[in-house]
Amino acid sequence: MLRLYLDNNATTPVLPEVFDAMRPYFDERFGNASSIHHHGQETRAAVERARDSVASLLGCRAAEVVFTSGGTEGDNLAIAGLTSPGDHIITSSIEHHAVLLTCKHLEETGCDVSYVPVDGRGLVDPDDVRRALRPNTKLISIMMANNETGVLQPVAEIGKIAAEADIYFHSDAVQAAGKIAIDVNQIGCDLLTISGHKLHAPQGVGALYVRKGTQLEPMLYGGSHERSRRAGTENVPGIVGLGKAAELARAGFERGDDLKMAAARDHLERELLEIEATGING
Ligand SMILES: Cc1ncc(COP(=O)(O)O)c(C=O)c1O
Repeated sequence: MLRLYLDNNATTPVLPEVFDAMRPYFDERFGNASSIHHHGQETRAAVERARDSVASLLGCRAAEVVFTSGGTEGDNLAIAGLTSPGDHIITSSIEHHAVLLTCKHLEETGCDVSYVPVDGRGLVDPDDVRRALRPNTKLISIMMANNETGVLQPVAEIGKIAAEADIYFHSDAVQAAGKIAIDVNQIGCDLLTISGHKLHAPQGVGALYVRKGTQLEPMLYGGSHERSRRAGTENVPGIVGLGKAAELARAGFERGDDLKMAAARDHLERELLEIEATGING
């Protein structure tokens, strides 16, 4: 039976170019990136090249990229790493569990959380975010693209609200990265999460953008990896894979692949809507 995979929001297959880039880091280039000898320096250089590629994809500096184990860790680190008991957080009711359950946990430890609703189209109203601001609001966390509906949230408008109120803004861009262009400065966010396996890199690797000067309390204690923001020996093959996937995604945007994909998506939607009794939720 011919099977057609239409679930790239759940995960994507690793591209052959990504797999080829990763392969040497499983065997001949096996060094620990923290070692000062040749083997270590070889893998350190590969990690830093990958950091440059991810930074280019997000429009940030390489030093602002923290490699993680994926989207869940990035979201947890961004939200729990910034807030303390007594702080107020604004998020939406349609975030991924990696955000929602982190917020629920923080409520139990003394944070206040406001969950702004979405309208019939699944959109957050930036005015609701503005109205939810309090004197002790520390962080706004609103996703860039929703994992169920694909709806893109007005993150740049929310970024402006955060900047005016002088509070941090985190965006979960796990479902956006690789599919649409991301520029952290245009969004105006201080933190942004991506996950490798949604953009043709392997599962179990991701990155968190952390704007320079943002003080994050780490979640893991140990070595001084990732400038003491994420302890633990780096997943070098995964990071190399994420770097390659970021490079390929960026090249795709330059060719206009995202526009072709959007046109194909719209075409599919139009054709499906021709079938009797089909409709769009909302
Ligand atoms: C919007 C969103 N955030 C976070 C995650 C978690 O990412 P990961 O699977 O890399 O932990 C997902 C995964 O589906 C997601 O869709």
